[in-house]
Amino acid sequence: MNRETELRLIREALALKEKGETQYHETTQTHQIERYVSENWFQREKETLFLGSPLAIGLAIEVPNIGDYRSIETVNGLSLLMVRGQDDQVRVFANACRHRNARLVATGESGCRKRFSCPYHAWTYDSEGALVGAPDFERGFSDMDKKQLGLIEFHSRVVEGVVFVHLNLEQQVPEDILAEEMIKGFEYLNLARLRIYKRRSYIVKANWKILTEGGIEAYHFNVAHRNTLAPFFLGNLSTWETWGGLNMRMVLPKKPLLEAHKLAESEWDLRQMANIIYSIAPAMLFLAQPDNISMIKMTPLNPGETRIEEVLLVEAPKAGGEDWSEQELTMHETNHNLVNKILSEDWVLGETIQANMESGAVSQIHFGRFESALTWFHHEYEKAIGLTSTGDLIDTIVSS
Ligand code: FES
Ligand SMILES: [Fe+2]
Repeated sequence: MNRETELRLIREALALKEKGETQYHETTQTHQIERYVSENWFQREKETLFLGSPLAIGLAIEVPNIGDYRSIETVNGLSLLMVRGQDDQVRVFANACRHRNARLVATGESGCRKRFSCPYHAWTYDSEGALVGAPDFERGFSDMDKKQLGLIEFHSRVVEGVVFVHLNLEQQVPEDILAEEMIKGFEYLNLARLRIYKRRSYIVKANWKILTEGGIEAYHFNVAHRNTLAPFFLGNLSTWETWGGLNMRMVLPKKPLLEAHKLAESEWDLRQMANIIYSIAPAMLFLAQPDNISMIKMTPLNPGETRIEEVLLVEAPKAGGEDWSEQELTMHETNHNLVNKILSEDWVLGETIQANMESGAVSQIHFGRFESALTWFHHEYEKAIGLTSTGDLIDTIVSS
């Protein structure tokens, strides 16, 4: 974001704080719980949002050097192989051998290689996906052409460091996948040039939308995070904006915002005065804190289970070189653990919500006027999965 936007966001938060207000939706909103528990609903989500639209799968800095690769698990049990080729381009392949479909690389594995040799019969691919070797190929597969047997490549595009793929092989990732203001926001965060500190991956027994909802409202801070986040924030205060679809930016003001009036505007620094969240459709969040950014990626496994990947992104070592100082390492490790502690507070609640929804104890949930980003999220979500009215939904999805 440019400086003018940074100042505008600070002014907006200050104005709301002075009035004791936050960003509202005009009305409350009520939803039936089917969208969190129904198998048919989940299928519709997968087909439209995850398999039928561009999907953010990670960052190009996860494969920073030529030959670097990482296997990435996504929906439907699909395993992807993200590789930086010898030409420095990031590509995304199906992690599946063209012979008889064995996985080339184990789930979650990463490293650096020139060749990927299948563990079953050693068909071997280069880092651009071409089949470059197969034992006894001419004798066994004399009527086949190696050139036609390269790895399946999905269309992908890297935008300001974020790697998008389209899992429908017929579809491209559009050039304007991110609004200009999102791109400027990522530039402001230096996202494409950060380093990976560490990652965690685990499963939470809750629908991915419940977990997303916990990430885009501040109403719960003083209660659910009373001992972690609450002392640093300004209670139920947040602002957010969107540029269409399920992409948004949220500002969560912190106590240093209260000092803004004592400073010249030239000294205002949004990174110090607020946490900033960017949400990318359908299920990736970037949480920017002063010294780091957390990438939180959600992969729905079934209606009541979501794989979470937390990746802590930090600046390169201050002194240059590859290694962080002892002091930097201590800070990053503390932050890595703190983010997990805070998220775990949300996940525990998410699991109780899911269990209650599945038990049918209560049939509805409600969003308050100040949970306005949740109202926005569900509105856009309904459009994205092709639903026009709530009555419609339950009839067309649940009973289909
Ligand atoms: S399945 Fe990969 S070489 Fe046979
Ligand atoms: Fe939370």
